[in-house]
Amino acid sequence: MNKTPQSLFNEITQDNDVLREFKNHSNRVMYLTTMLGKAINCYDEELKVAALLHDIGKMGLSKSILFKPEKLTPLEKRIIESHSHVGNLIVRKELNMPRAAQFVRDHHENWDGSGYPRGLKGEDISIQGRMIRICDTFDTMTYEVRHYSTYKMSHEEAFEELRRCAWREFDGQLVETFISLVKEHGTSNDWSTAMKT
Ligand SMILES: [Fe+2]
Ligand SMILES: [Fe+2]
Repeated sequence: MNKTPQSLFNEITQDNDVLREFKNHSNRVMYLTTMLGKAINCYDEELKVAALLHDIGKMGLSKSILFKPEKLTPLEKRIIESHSHVGNLIVRKELNMPRAAQFVRDHHENWDGSGYPRGLKGEDISIQGRMIRICDTFDTMTYEVRHYSTYKMSHEEAFEELRRCAWREFDGQLVETFISLVKEHGTSNDWSTAMKT
């Protein structure tokens, strides 16, 4: 049986809550990353697959950790952080897409070297990983109220936060490109319509 990036969600998922949560977030991150990648002439199928599957390594984790509203313990944090590595393995072994797997692995690396799993710095992080990092964070801040915080930011507040963390967590140049693109094309929340185009 041929696996597709989309079919992996259904295969890995524990139940409908997890599936819904991750599919919606993943589709929005794929849309944003595609827009950013095309704008800087760095778009291909592997980027799209990596953006869609960036959190696939989280889907097998226990719901009590994934949806825990309180602060995570150090051990729980470590378990969550393993998703970069697990996602890398899944995309490499199940889909045989080593480049996409590398981008998945890189999506929590920080520009200043403080990220995970490898603590890569600056341009040592794949540009695809740097793009997914920004789009993922933006979506989490503006959409996902269940994780990290109970406060959902406006686009403007999220832009401010991205700029505040530019050249520490994020590639500052990509942040600026991303912000102008979202201002121009992405202010509507109708992601499903946007994805069809
Ligand atoms: Fe992630
Ligand atoms: Fe994510």
